[in-house]
Amino acid sequence: MKIMAFIGSPRKNGNTAKIVNAICKGAKESGHEVEIYNLSEMDNMGCNACDACQLEKVDFCLIDDKLTNLLPQIAKADYLIVGTPIYMLQVSGATKNFLDRLRPFLKPDLTAKHLPGKKYITVTCSGAPAAAFSNVTEYFNQFFGYFGMENAGNIVVGNLQEKDDIIRRSKILEEAEEMGKKLS
Ligand SMILES: Cc1cc2nc3c(=O)[nH]c(=O)nc-3n(C[C@H](O)[C@H](O)[C@H](O)COP(=O)(O)O)c2cc1C
Repeated sequence: MKIMAFIGSPRKNGNTAKIVNAICKGAKESGHEVEIYNLSEMDNMGCNACDACQLEKVDFCLIDDKLTNLLPQIAKADYLIVGTPIYMLQVSGATKNFLDRLRPFLKPDLTAKHLPGKKYITVTCSGAPAAAFSNVTEYFNQFFGYFGMENAGNIVVGNLQEKDDIIRRSKILEEAEEMGKKLS
């Protein structure tokens, strides 16, 4: 299977990245094709509301950036993994820009195309205890559910302040790797 993972933290190799990387490590061990992208390194400007995708003037997006180049690959992937730190009570800006840029996966009648039937996993890391941001997981599930995607897991971890805090929670990283090994 083809798995595309997107990390929405600008902090290189921080908590979110370590968990996403652990899932991907497991997936690679099971023989899957895995690509990992750091959304903060991809220009990743938000949607500019030109409506070219909705008017079907282009296959995907008129914005000339790295993310547009990835959209056809997303259409071919089997799994999407999206990880975000909580920023100001919500997904990070880089993550939100990415989600906005998935508008080309909506037809003019606002039903989904390309994505229905694919699976997704989300990863959410916060400084506060995990239970504080169940709304963000609900948001992710509502979002990907709207696109007809199937939930393959939500990893939600709190009490993570410094970028290496997750290393002291090795069980979570082991579980993430195990989740990656068992992707189906
Ligand atoms: C700009 C900014 C805003 C943040 N806002 C919140 C917040 O609202 N609630 C919270 O619990 N943690 C907040 N945090 C802490 C991060 O969510 C937390 O440290 C997370 O583990 C960072 O993940 P990372 O290591 O992958 O970057 C914020 C951090 C930053 C830099």
